[in-house]
Amino acid sequence: MHMIRFPALLSLLASVFCGASLYAQGTVVVPPEPKPAVTYADIADIVLQNCLGCHSADVAFGDVVLDTEENLKSLSKQASVALKLGVMPMGDEGFKDTPDGQLLIAYLDSLQSLVYADIAPILQTNCVSCHSGPTARKGVRLDTEAFAIQNASRALIMLGEARMPPRKPSFKASDDGQLLLSWFQNPLPTPKPVTTPQP
Ligand code: HEC
Ligand code: HEC
Repeated sequence: MHMIRFPALLSLLASVFCGASLYAQGTVVVPPEPKPAVTYADIADIVLQNCLGCHSADVAFGDVVLDTEENLKSLSKQASVALKLGVMPMGDEGFKDTPDGQLLIAYLDSLQSLVYADIAPILQTNCVSCHSGPTARKGVRLDTEAFAIQNASRALIMLGEARMPPRKPSFKASDDGQLLLSWFQNPLPTPKPVTTPQP
């Protein structure tokens, strides 16, 4: 019995992981298409046509160079904001509403995730007074990136249950509380800065 079922299960799993269609008892089960992520390859031409005239290594207005994937990623936050405000591409306010503009914004936004630098000031204001150095309450330090990452899962529980900061149950629902909560769920370090080539 096991000898028969086990390989069948394996091949089923294999086809799931390969994203292939499933063939079960003669019927074809097509898994739902996952929403495709926008990749750099999808938007490289859009950047070339709409941005690089002013943001290449040769012509870098505002010291902004967007000519490689790395450079674009390191400025994704600023670029997304500038696009949504309609200030970039300079002189083309309507670009953000075009299909190309929408695709570029979707790509830039998909790169956004909270990193330590985004929430460090919130920790500083709301937690660090009681959670720093050798006198940290319960020995839980939140005063450096490494300690904050190390203690994120415990902090997630305390904030999730609105038990920290003490006697401030409303903090959890505030904007800062929500940002902190999502960082504790996925405590990413601040990325190392990418150096852009100077023109
Ligand atoms: C016609 C020239 C021109 C084009 C095209 C252009 N920019 Fe700019 N961009 C500028 C100039 C000039 C500045 C510097 C503005 C300043 O310092 O106030 C700038 C600054 C920026 C900045 C930094 C300023 C900020 O708001 O943080 C970003 C990011 C940026 N551009 C992104 C883009 C992107 C993305 C595109 C393409 C979708 C683009 N730009 C197209 C001229 C241009
Ligand atoms: C006013 C001082 C104070 C502030 C501000 C404060 N805490 Fe605490 N924290 C305490 C005390 C006291 C304890 C020990 C409480 C206990 O044992 O019940 C504690 C315990 C903890 C623990 C350990 C719980 C465990 O046993 O696993 C975590 C994690 C924690 N706090 C996270 C935070 C976070 C996150 C913030 C900011 C949002 C914060 N604290 C703000 C005083 C504070």
